[in-house]
Amino acid sequence: MLSSLPILNHCSSSPEGATPAGPAHVSAGSVAPGPRTNPVPPGLHANSVAAGLRTGRSASAADGASHLESPLTETDLLHWLREEDDSRLETLYAAADRVRHEMVGDAVHLRGLVEISNHCVRQCAYCGLRAGHTKLVRYRLSADEVLACARQAVEFGYGTVVMQAGEDYGIGRSWLARLIRQIKAETPLAVTLSLGERPVEDLAAWREAGADRYLLRFETSDRELYARIHPPLGSRPSDRVELLRTLRGLGYEIGSGVMVGIPGQTYETLARDLLLFRELDLDMIGVGPYIPHPDTPLGERLATRPEPHPSADQVPNTEKMAYKMVALTRLMCPQANIPGTTAIATLNQESGRELALCRGANVVMPNLTPVQYRAMYEIYPAKACITETAQHCRGCLKSRIRSLGRTIGTGPGGRRRLA
Ligand code: 5AD
Ligand code: FES
Repeated sequence: MLSSLPILNHCSSSPEGATPAGPAHVSAGSVAPGPRTNPVPPGLHANSVAAGLRTGRSASAADGASHLESPLTETDLLHWLREEDDSRLETLYAAADRVRHEMVGDAVHLRGLVEISNHCVRQCAYCGLRAGHTKLVRYRLSADEVLACARQAVEFGYGTVVMQAGEDYGIGRSWLARLIRQIKAETPLAVTLSLGERPVEDLAAWREAGADRYLLRFETSDRELYARIHPPLGSRPSDRVELLRTLRGLGYEIGSGVMVGIPGQTYETLARDLLLFRELDLDMIGVGPYIPHPDTPLGERLATRPEPHPSADQVPNTEKMAYKMVALTRLMCPQANIPGTTAIATLNQESGRELALCRGANVVMPNLTPVQYRAMYEIYPAKACITETAQHCRGCLKSRIRSLGRTIGTGPGGRRRLA
């Protein structure tokens, strides 16, 4: 029961707690709040905060940086990804919190997550829903069950319903299009889909039916690593980056993200992931630690044949690494909606989500899946919130958000594009 555990009171890294901060003019190495007048353009502001985080070699480039340039170079990113000193990391977290406050405000948007099916045709080496996991009992919600969840989202004051599943072709194009139309006709909810690499005809039909957003993590920008952990389906190549561009072309808001600490993932790869987030101009970005699942090839290998001497380049799948990624994601993509993910909450049930919210995140995704199905959506073991009811998650998360001095977002909470 999460709510019985101690919760944070305000962000320790927040410059001014719940009070709206004025624009900051930050010199190298400093994140102290600046004067409250003389506003600077938003993009430039994010860059000037990030400028305080530049490493020696790139500091002079930062001085003349235009707001269109990347706020942090690959060298800066690598430096921060490798940083282990907690007090220096506080500087990073405070900068991310400040940019979050300036760029997307203090509201935390709630997206009601409905895990509509755990069937999956794919064989991802890391994922508990993979087709090869034959012990898993499979389920698929009926349209009425999904509609009941959507109505509950409205009742709970959530602005979005997220329908997530494995890549399940039992979810038919017209069945889902009808359901989306019904949700859009009956409720004011934004509809987000997260259904894997579906053919463009399906994606177009669902957009046409009214779906607003699509989440598809590219998992890693290292093509070789991706191919090792995510085999293609038959002869169809798996190019999630290309598919994200297609989704954008169809008019969806697009979300993506990566797992942190996949075996074989290096710091260089993570730095490139961050650069790719920015290049794709993602509207939503989810990052979370890789959590080994013993019934998957990757998890089984780690359990039975652990790497005795992991390379110094191997990224650990720790909570700390995940927070560094959340903070750097905020600095690289100041306007994006960034959730405190369930994977982070799984590593730290007591305060993982709150810490993420204090280090750059502005979204949480309370689970609305009917309780009898929750444990079956086992992407990885010991997932947070698998026994709590939707009512419980709502109460728990709302009080946690308020205790941080943040407000609950209202309305659909889409990407706000600032000049
Ligand atoms: N650990 C952490 N995250 C995982 N995901 C899948 N399997 C795992 C795991 N073992 C993430 C992937 C996927 C999202 C739905 O869940 O990033 O895109
Ligand atoms: Fe289902 Fe990868 S195993 S999407």
